[in-house]
Amino acid sequence: MAKKESRELTDVLSSSQKKYKPSKEMVQNSNAGDYEAILKKAAKNPLKFWEEAANNLKWFKKWDEVFSDKEKPFFKWFLGAKCNLAYNALDRHIEEGKINKKTAIIWEEESGRTRKFTYQELYTEVNKLANALRGMGVDRGDRIAIYMPNIPEIVFAMLACAKVGAMHSVVYAGFSSKALADRIDDAQAKVLFTADGSFRRGKVVDLKSIADAAVKNAKSIEKVVVVQNNKAKVNFNKKCDVWYHDFVKGQSVYAHCAEMDSEDPAFVLYTSGTTSKPKGVIHVHGGYPVGVLQTMKYVFDIKGDEIFWCTADPGWITGHSYIIYGPLLAGITTLMYEGVPDMPKPDRIWKVVEKYKVNILYTAPTLIRAMMKYGINWPKAHKMESLRLLGSVGEPINPEAWKWFYTYVGKKRCPIMDTWWQTETGMNMITPLPSAPLKAGSACKPFPGIIADVVDKKGKSVPTGKGGFLVIRNQWPSMIRTIFNNPERYIKTYWSEIRGMYFAGDVAAKDKEGYFWIQGRTDDVLKVAGHRIGTAEVESAFVSHKSVVEAAVIGVPDPVKGEVIVAFVILAGKVKPSEELNMEIRKHVRKEIGPVAVIKDIKFIDKLPKTRSGKIMRRVLKAQELGLEVGDTSAMVN
Ligand code: PRX
Repeated sequence: MAKKESRELTDVLSSSQKKYKPSKEMVQNSNAGDYEAILKKAAKNPLKFWEEAANNLKWFKKWDEVFSDKEKPFFKWFLGAKCNLAYNALDRHIEEGKINKKTAIIWEEESGRTRKFTYQELYTEVNKLANALRGMGVDRGDRIAIYMPNIPEIVFAMLACAKVGAMHSVVYAGFSSKALADRIDDAQAKVLFTADGSFRRGKVVDLKSIADAAVKNAKSIEKVVVVQNNKAKVNFNKKCDVWYHDFVKGQSVYAHCAEMDSEDPAFVLYTSGTTSKPKGVIHVHGGYPVGVLQTMKYVFDIKGDEIFWCTADPGWITGHSYIIYGPLLAGITTLMYEGVPDMPKPDRIWKVVEKYKVNILYTAPTLIRAMMKYGINWPKAHKMESLRLLGSVGEPINPEAWKWFYTYVGKKRCPIMDTWWQTETGMNMITPLPSAPLKAGSACKPFPGIIADVVDKKGKSVPTGKGGFLVIRNQWPSMIRTIFNNPERYIKTYWSEIRGMYFAGDVAAKDKEGYFWIQGRTDDVLKVAGHRIGTAEVESAFVSHKSVVEAAVIGVPDPVKGEVIVAFVILAGKVKPSEELNMEIRKHVRKEIGPVAVIKDIKFIDKLPKTRSGKIMRRVLKAQELGLEVGDTSAMVN
């Protein structure tokens, strides 16, 4: 299995060159028009391309300058402009008065419960909440933590923060109380939004208790706003807890948007890197929506009446950009589904597509592979005629999964947008457009205006067909601006590895037609079911167990989850390995990080392979685990 799944470069480049050409109709009707022509046009003058894109939004005051690299790598866009992210996602539509009655959010829960909000209703909810936040003194620049399930209130909370100029920091609800506390602490968040609980596989997930445990250790929190979602009994701390419905009670349904500078931070989103401390990625009010809306227009080919379903969670960047901000900026309907895709039966996802006449389905390879295991009869039983476009994100999609998705879900009618991007990029970066010829397993070419390349350590382009580091040679409006409270780490992580270009941390290759084939991470970042987790974070969870003195974790291929974690653990002095201890350590790690860290195996060993400077050689462990060539071990001491 390891061999088949390992996406050997030569296999990929030689076996998957069949092209899936778009129909004439698709090309003619697509917003971007002829694929090569739009790439050429944007490449000629990327700043002009982005300035035109920015004109699709409304600004309180327009920019004096489109772009500045005077303080590089702290690049700036739309200098001197005044704007607000929530204004563009919501208020602008209400002012224009054309889509007030259109459904903004369709929500369905695993249990079958549904809720819907029109743009007008969403506007009212957000305004009430913005006023409540202002009422308690929340102001521009304050940080607000959000630890919630995928429910409409998470959208209200995010937009209300943006409206008042506070920065939201959404933490994925699959993270533990410790992970939440660390993130609250780093951001020094004032308010925490959470819910009593949510349902998963029919079971109640007790979010409030996790939030309570986090708040105990995160002293900056003044108020915890709790959504009554599943009416579970919760522990209520009268000093700082308030029910969401009480918090907004009696608030006015009008609230103005704070006039923000285009470079003011709109939100922070924590993501994993090579150390155990997650990085708070900063995105801003001006450039972020410009990039996101442009991809809605060109990649997802939004015309204005679509039902858009992105199956991610709002706790990740995919949810920020393509469940919430992208669809709302584009004025279309976003579908939110809270639950697992195979409950009560393996066709739930296809049923939802049919029930709501979803036009665009944007999902992850891990979900596609999970559905493949159930067999083709489940999607075959559903016509899904409303679908016209599919999307994939989060990890490389193997050609088998691509073809399955194309054939049985898209019924060979719907092109697949395999979008490569990151928390840091804010928007789709390497991706087809609907008018592009597709290759199964390739993310195609850079988005118009983006110059991506595959280079060696010195920044020299490598020949086609050869693997190298994925970099972006120019800048784009929705790029990361800095790491919260840590500008040095921003410079070191993204702008120091290879001089003068953005270092993405991925390995890739380009074929002779300029198509990119992304291979995975070069650094110690894992992708478990498409979720980004740092090896260092997981290792520090292991060593925080009293019986563990040292640990190293690696990602090994998994046919469904892409990668799962195998841990090598050195036990303290007299502690003896046992099945019970194995279970106990697993439980401990789950408690430290959350269910997001899926551990396949724990191996108790005596020594870890290390370099002379004491760095663990994870690649040696990985090669041994997978039965592959270990390669150069001259740097290894033991
Ligand atoms: O390794 C790449 C992988 O996901 C990483 C970024 O993770 P995160 O910041 O969590 O954002 C995920 C969703 C945007 C990348 O460095 N990745 C993302 N999309 C793809 C991908 N790898 C291959 N193909 C993709 N389409």
